[in-house]
Amino acid sequence: MTAAAKSTVELAAEQAAHWNGPGGQNWLKAQARLDHLMAGITRDVLALANAQPGEKAIDVGCGPGTTTAALAASVGPEGHVLGVDISQVLIDAAATRRLSNATFLVADAGAHPFEAASVDLIFSRFGVMFFGDPVAAFTNLRRALKPSGRLAFVCWRSAQDNPWSLAPVKAAAPFLPLPPRPGPEDPGQFAFGDRARVERILKGAGFTGLAIEPLDVEIWMGRDPADVVANAGRFGPLSRPLAEAEPAAAARAKAAIVEALVPHATKDGVSLPGGCWLVSARPG
Ligand SMILES: C[S@@+](CC[C@H](N)C(=O)[O-])C[C@H]1O[C@@H](n2cnc3c(N)ncnc32)[C@H](O)[C@@H]1O
Repeated sequence: MTAAAKSTVELAAEQAAHWNGPGGQNWLKAQARLDHLMAGITRDVLALANAQPGEKAIDVGCGPGTTTAALAASVGPEGHVLGVDISQVLIDAAATRRLSNATFLVADAGAHPFEAASVDLIFSRFGVMFFGDPVAAFTNLRRALKPSGRLAFVCWRSAQDNPWSLAPVKAAAPFLPLPPRPGPEDPGQFAFGDRARVERILKGAGFTGLAIEPLDVEIWMGRDPADVVANAGRFGPLSRPLAEAEPAAAARAKAAIVEALVPHATKDGVSLPGGCWLVSARPG
């Protein structure tokens, strides 16, 4: 069933179940690796956000709070950051950071009644592509911004623009039953791949002054192909199919992934290209 056939409430429940279950646990286990592979992207999106001392910010889909901590350092003791996530397990991990000028909240950022016109910055690193009704969700986020405030986030472009994700999936596909490809309006990792869709969502939510700029990066995936394959089972699109496959099929899929990655292995590890959108806007 595509997103169009499900209600916003059903889609939100699905996302909450995923991120409170295996999605959140795997993200947490992989946190150090993910922070490493996203380090360059993180620098760029934080530079775009340009958080200033004394400002108030919301980190949407903050996960274990890596970017919340970075924003908290920028806004300083006079400022404040609210990290919001639907995953209790990730918010519990974020809260262990014990930041004096940040608080964490388990909530659906697309529906939570934030205080109107209360923050300078709505920020996200890969946490805004999972809303069942993105126009309604971004409308809700826009209302939290002061008239002088700004939105700044990074999201992935399409799967085709992200060979680091697509190449292992393509290699494994002949050996594993993969879930059906998501529809163009379905929430998910690559849901904001289409620039025109991002523009339509943000304009529909009342944002103006949109800048949607491509960011091309090399994604470090692991020390060597075997290391990448070991982690493909822990998070990302192959984790579930690999876990559920017959051992022989899983072994063939892993061998095919290794073969596909060998040409990309160097002494510094395995890296493949990735593509993001760096997005900024004003609340009208
Ligand atoms: C790809 S992870 C990114 C996590 C974090 N921003 C990071 O970069 O480490 C997506 C995050 O969005 C959260 N999320 C998904 N839908 C959400 C919603 N409606 N409201 C708040 N958080 C949400 C997930 O629980 C997950 O932590």
